[in-house]
Amino acid sequence: MANNLLAGKKGVIFGALDDKSIAWKVAERCVEEGAQITLTNAPVALRFGQINELGERLNAEIIPADATSMEDLEALFTKSMEVMGGKLDFVLHSIGMSINVRKGRPYTDLKYDWMQKTFDISAISFHRVMQTLWHMDAMKEWGSILALTYIAAQRTFPDYNEMAESKALLESFARSFGYHFGTAKKVRVNTISQSPTWTTAGSGVKGFDEFFGYADKMSPLGNAPAEACADYCVSMFSDLTRMVNMQNLYHDGGFSNMGMNPAVLGL
Ligand SMILES: NC(=O)c1ccc[n+]([C@@H]2O[C@H](COP(=O)([O-])OP(=O)(O)OC[C@H]3O[C@@H](n4cnc5c(N)ncnc54)[C@H](O)[C@@H]3O)[C@@H](O)[C@H]2O)c1
Repeated sequence: MANNLLAGKKGVIFGALDDKSIAWKVAERCVEEGAQITLTNAPVALRFGQINELGERLNAEIIPADATSMEDLEALFTKSMEVMGGKLDFVLHSIGMSINVRKGRPYTDLKYDWMQKTFDISAISFHRVMQTLWHMDAMKEWGSILALTYIAAQRTFPDYNEMAESKALLESFARSFGYHFGTAKKVRVNTISQSPTWTTAGSGVKGFDEFFGYADKMSPLGNAPAEACADYCVSMFSDLTRMVNMQNLYHDGGFSNMGMNPAVLGL
């Protein structure tokens, strides 16, 4: 289903770890639509993940960067512009990690040094990415910056833990930077709020299996798969969505606007 929607565009994609990762699917779709990309992930993830295979297949340079390091981010964008020969049209932030979630700490007994790490990796990194792009003047006019988020930023999902606050912060950074980038450089910044998806980050949340099934039943269209999220990202990077800015866009089969679905009750 390629329509050359991203022909001639250059982008940087964060967060492809393995073939389950949402960023992995986005990378594949962007290249299918004619974009040139570089791929990046934390150095440790590059050692354990399968990103080399993806890079080779998509003819995309892989540039390691810890998204909490300003030095790494500056080097990443410098190298990306060098290998692709110009400024960037789009950037995807697809990063999330919480040690409290990983270690099964309940919300009422969180470790604060871990919480700070969660915020730094999962949310502040998005500000770091944008601030680096801003100072380097690395975005082309009418470019598009996107991050992935989850509805726990607005509603309570107890097992999502401190990632809820992390996503609230992330979405707020998108609005605030969307003002600055929009005004000064005609660049838009948005977040896509995705359905539960079977990935390393997603399935690390307690009770994910049951919750996935619940959300699937609750949504009139069912859960949105990663491939459909990739399609949505492509449209947000394309010139068809130039005036969409500072939005949190639900991509969830209708889940966010449901009250009760009889299917959940087995009716
Ligand atoms: N899976 C879901 O159910 C779901 C639902 C809504 C939103 N999301 C969001 O989608 C995004 C992608 O997650 P995913 O589900 O594809 O899982 P994933 O585990 O495949 O991706 C998370 C990525 O974050 C990277 N990362 C962690 N620490 C990093 C650091 N310091 N620097 C750079 N990268 C780092 C990991 O290496 C990994 O590639 C996340 O923001 C996640 O919160 C996921």
